[in-house]
Amino acid sequence: MRKKYYITTPIYYPSGNWHIGHCYTTVICDALARFHKLLGEDVFFLTGTDEHGQKVEKEAKERGVTPMEFIDPLVAELKDIWKLLDIDYNRFIRTTDEDHIRCVQRIYQKLYESGDIYKSEYEGWYCTPCEAFWTESQLKDGKCPDCGREVKKQKEESYFFRLSKYAPRILKLYEDNPEFLQPKSRVNEMVNNFLKAGLTDLCVSRTTVKWGVQLPFDKKHYSYVWIDALANYLSALGYLSEDESLFQKYWPANLHMVGKEIVRFHAVIWPAIVMALGLEVPKQVYGHGWLLIGGDKLSKSKQDAVKAELTDPYELVKRYGADAVRYFLLREIPFGSDGEYTNERLLTRINADLANDLGNLVSRTTAMIVQNFGGKLPACGKSEELDRELEEKANALFEKVKDAMDRLNAPEALNEIFSLVSRANKYIDETTPWTLAKDESKRERLGTVLYHLAECCRICALLLKPFLTKAPALILKSFSVPEDAGFEILPFGYLKEGAAVEKLPPIFPRIDVNKELAEVEKLVLSKKKDKEKEKTPEKEPQLITIDDFAKVQLRVGEIIACEKVAKSEKLLHETIKLGEETRSVVSGIAKYYTPEELVGKKVVMVANLKPVKLCGVLSEGMLLCAEDEKGNLSLLSPERAMESGAKIG
Ligand code: MSP
Repeated sequence: MRKKYYITTPIYYPSGNWHIGHCYTTVICDALARFHKLLGEDVFFLTGTDEHGQKVEKEAKERGVTPMEFIDPLVAELKDIWKLLDIDYNRFIRTTDEDHIRCVQRIYQKLYESGDIYKSEYEGWYCTPCEAFWTESQLKDGKCPDCGREVKKQKEESYFFRLSKYAPRILKLYEDNPEFLQPKSRVNEMVNNFLKAGLTDLCVSRTTVKWGVQLPFDKKHYSYVWIDALANYLSALGYLSEDESLFQKYWPANLHMVGKEIVRFHAVIWPAIVMALGLEVPKQVYGHGWLLIGGDKLSKSKQDAVKAELTDPYELVKRYGADAVRYFLLREIPFGSDGEYTNERLLTRINADLANDLGNLVSRTTAMIVQNFGGKLPACGKSEELDRELEEKANALFEKVKDAMDRLNAPEALNEIFSLVSRANKYIDETTPWTLAKDESKRERLGTVLYHLAECCRICALLLKPFLTKAPALILKSFSVPEDAGFEILPFGYLKEGAAVEKLPPIFPRIDVNKELAEVEKLVLSKKKDKEKEKTPEKEPQLITIDDFAKVQLRVGEIIACEKVAKSEKLLHETIKLGEETRSVVSGIAKYYTPEELVGKKVVMVANLKPVKLCGVLSEGMLLCAEDEKGNLSLLSPERAMESGAKIG
């Protein structure tokens, strides 16, 4: 039976504003999935979107649309990006898919029946206008992190998952399976920061957030993060459905690849849930590092803050192609650690490795075969020491690449492949085929050299297939290698004398880095400006709530004295009676009223403005005026007689 390989990415929040950091996890998984397919394994590669929760519910409401109307375009964008980057998944799961929802309900039911889910009370900080619970650490200066208003401690009936019960079993899982969580550094973090301190049970339902999966045994309750999201790894395989064949075939997962910030959910909570369901735990969770920008995690907000780095996957692929973007992500970031992202680093990589090393090797080799042998591969004559050394290096490459990929180390695998590319380029310099070509008596030697180069191009291209999706196919085609050939044809000597060889133009054109960086900077800045413009009209029709309005104290005041403010043409200084109080107010109305005509007038004023000094005079309020487009101005007064100090509202 074929070996199976089940690999997953995390499911993405439909946040929009997709950036190159988002592509990292998925590109790595795609390369791994392709590698295992080429090994002849039966691969299932899963990715998707995590669509429920308070944030989506709130954002949709703010825009006046349904959650689905809000999410659908964002999901479509993400799918487009995966298409551009040639991500070849088996399923794109959405947590709003019917089969996923059904599976989540069955999981909740099962855990409820076995006693691993129980009803209790959740205590948190509640913001009434936002209808949201926050934990202590989520609060900003003790206030709601979303709206900045007061929060109060409140209890809510909730269901809990007995996570605490599983701490000893998870510790044992780490002890018995050192491979379960990688890289090793993350194990210490989990053990010391969470497991040893003891786990607390996990709140898994809410009655206040309704954009979730309704619990089958208590319809007031909706799933609250993480069980719903994590369950996608099972629901995608039809777990607890009428057809569990995929589940039987692929579970347990071979690899959950995740960013380091969500390791805890995958390496502590997820195995506990899987154990509670009585299933085998996944074989491995890998917590990779982040793409940094200016030293911080590249994120939606950071992306707007940075000077001029291009982080938009659409634009990057449009300018440099999918291969270049994939190559950069897979090669440049030391695996398991963080790596800084800059356009300059990306361009330097493209030029040095793809345009110079790989591109040159292939175009020189194919050009010389076409020029000297009319596009027919020459025979491999008697090998010399130099040829044998190259041949050995080419034949040893697969094991090295496989070893690196078994450790999930794509940068190391690529490093190995490119070391053969470099060696072959050096071999050209050492054997100088252009000199051999000038001497008819060296024709056989020339053939042998070009044969060796052709084989190196072919072997490198085959091994590059999981990482790059376009160039390897072009290279293999130029040597007439069948499109669907896998690693079985790797050994040196596959190409036969007389095989058709086509001249390949430069597959990665060299980029003028300085010129390109300047262009990119212009592009990013102009996009930023467009974004700012887009934001401005949104502000105009912004609606306020009655609570917002209630913040402003409006009262009737009587002007009992008024004078011009010295050294100012615009300002008048009024003394205003406000019930029992007297206030000093400065207003910019000197062009419209004389001090004399104002004394005795009843006016409307904002009574709770923070006091300020204007031209050295204290102002403790603001008079309300109407102003039309022609520049006429009129103070507002109560329409009927009113006592000074009367409240307005
Ligand atoms: N929805 C959760 C995952 C639930 S899985 C059951 C989530 N989504 S996410 O959209 O925030 O992140 C998706 C993936 O993108 C994560 O692996 C995350 O680490 C990755 N990245 C987002 N920004 C990143 C960088 N700047 N660098 C590398 N990967 C990053 O978390």
